[in-house]
Amino acid sequence: MSYDSVRNRWLDDPESFWAEAAEGIDWTRRWGRVLDRGSPSGRWFPGAELNTCYNALDRHADSGAADRTALIYDSAMTGAIRRFTYAELRDQVAQLAGAIQAAGLSRGDRALIYMPMIPEAVMAMLACARLGVIHSVVFGGFAARELATRITQARPKLILTASCGLEPNRVVEYKPLLDDALTQTAHRPELVVLLQRPELAAELKADGDVEWTDFVQAAEPADCVPVKATDPLYILYTSGTTGQPKGIVRDNGGHAVALHWSMKALYGIAAGDVFWAASDIGWVVGHSYIVYAPLLAGATSVLYEGKPVGTPDAGAFWRVVSQHGVNALFTAPTAIRAIKRDDPELAHAGQHDLSGLRALFLAGERCDPDTLEWSGKVLGVPVIDHWWQTETGWAVAGNLLGEGLFPVRAGSAGKALPGWDVRVVDNSGAEVPAGETGAIVCRLPLPPGALPTLWQADERFRETYLSDFDGCYTTGDAGYMDAEGYLYVMTRTDDVINVAGHRLSTGALEEVLAMHPDVAECAVTGIADALKGQVPLGFLCLKSGISREEDAVVKECIALIREHIGPVAAFRKALVVDRLPKTRSGKVLRGVLAKIADGLEYAFPATIDDPTILGEVEAKLTSAGIRAE
Ligand code: COA
Ligand code: AMP
Repeated sequence: MSYDSVRNRWLDDPESFWAEAAEGIDWTRRWGRVLDRGSPSGRWFPGAELNTCYNALDRHADSGAADRTALIYDSAMTGAIRRFTYAELRDQVAQLAGAIQAAGLSRGDRALIYMPMIPEAVMAMLACARLGVIHSVVFGGFAARELATRITQARPKLILTASCGLEPNRVVEYKPLLDDALTQTAHRPELVVLLQRPELAAELKADGDVEWTDFVQAAEPADCVPVKATDPLYILYTSGTTGQPKGIVRDNGGHAVALHWSMKALYGIAAGDVFWAASDIGWVVGHSYIVYAPLLAGATSVLYEGKPVGTPDAGAFWRVVSQHGVNALFTAPTAIRAIKRDDPELAHAGQHDLSGLRALFLAGERCDPDTLEWSGKVLGVPVIDHWWQTETGWAVAGNLLGEGLFPVRAGSAGKALPGWDVRVVDNSGAEVPAGETGAIVCRLPLPPGALPTLWQADERFRETYLSDFDGCYTTGDAGYMDAEGYLYVMTRTDDVINVAGHRLSTGALEEVLAMHPDVAECAVTGIADALKGQVPLGFLCLKSGISREEDAVVKECIALIREHIGPVAAFRKALVVDRLPKTRSGKVLRGVLAKIADGLEYAFPATIDDPTILGEVEAKLTSAGIRAE
């Protein structure tokens, strides 16, 4: 097979294509129609029923694969390595699900998972899936306020957490963060279950807090509960353009079909192979490719608690690849840049046997050609950039390792994958010629696995994603497609920035900066960073009459972001300016601010209110040493 033949098979008859892919999943009830076109973006396999956890665990554990390793937990933070066979993981998940069921949760209820990268977090997700309980995982690097917003929106009956996460320079105490979050939301979960890690014992509250071991100990294992293909499996919040994150909904059926298909076709992974997505379960990559997809495919998934560098060195990834026989590694370009920075000759890799590695997959942010070429040269395996979003659940553009690769072009995220009708359009929605930049959209219907809606916000879903261009999903990314169909994803069209592969809303950061009593007005923009791709930069206009040291205000603003958004924002740079450049209608020219900071040429927008402000800002950025030469 080749990319063209697979793509053409999909183009010829999309519904048959996905119906055939759906044969890779075990259903308790088969679908009537493959696709219901009645809903805005299309619903896949209506009427069908399945259980995602059954497909991820039981069907392997009940067949010849019971003794195959399902999950390898490798903690570079503690030195621990734990392996779980399919049978072991199924049994532990079933018991945890039994405890959750006994606590009164059932299909459609929500459970929030606020846990570090430990096997129990994966078990928690799968236990929810076993019962049809909708999970909402919150990334550990967020502050209490972000956690509170997600609790308010998802209204979980149960919160599953742990005493701590482990970062290289500190122990992250989850319980105080959770307690703080619970003071910031009116919603009260019925139960908080906490796993005590040996590194830190958390204090439990007498009412409503339960220790994980006590919770699980006496529970009877629960069976898999069949759910509708269109029932939500999970909600995952992601940054939008405002401080209110968007609750991306993922359904059960389409998700299982698309992810199962992608393991073989895209990543070239079959049952028994070892797959490692070096991400975090708090992100979509972790949901899809640490937890669900490798297990749906009967492969072995690696759960790594650590960093690419510093835990203990830039050889950490290669140690894991060699020790666990990883066949395909998926990470963010930032991680590779960090390794390259610390070990440019890849001396560490030479100490490990990487012969099992067949490919390196990169996503999460734009991959600069240097990073792609360097990693290909030093690893000697294909390096495949692929582009996707929390919303899409799996890759929109990429390459098909499992079907035979087409030549990679550095700077391009590959070609549109089966399922995705990608177009590049101008403001009026008309397609632009090859090579010209425009908004990247996908023609509806969306394929299985893509978001069907936002959690309890159908209107916001339509408004945000489906209303800009008739019959299309707006990705929020801009770029171009060349004459051979290679897609180049260059930038966002909205106020979202990408910091070390993490997606942040500049609007949310601005909302926090505006809380500072001395700040009259502010703007945040992403500026280029050699390691993280982008980092946020804040511009602060102080209230008149404020004569404090600018540095003091800046420091307080940095602390404010850490306190309210979290360390993951990596907000370390801000400066005080007299005025912000705006259009005549009052819109801050954030794009121009970013260009000035990056030392790039910029045009004076025709709509600018007072062009002299740009000179002022440029001088200030230069004297602060922020402006790139
Ligand atoms: N829980 C709590 N805090 C976390 C966290 C978590 N799960 N993850 C990150 N943080 C904190 C870090 O400790 C750091 O805090 P600090 O300001 O006290 O140092 C801050 O958030 C920023 O973290 P990070 O973005 O990881 O930057 P870093 O400078 O610590 O590390 C890299 C740099 C390159 C090693 C790191 O950014 C990295 O591994 N990037 C790859 C990201 C990735 O895989 N993304 C996948 C998305 S698909
Ligand atoms: P997230 O939803 O956090 O996964 O972030 C998705 C966003 O990250 C996309 O909309 C892009 O802006 C960016 N992104 C992800 N992968 C790539 C890629 N391969 N190339 C360019 N940008 C990417």
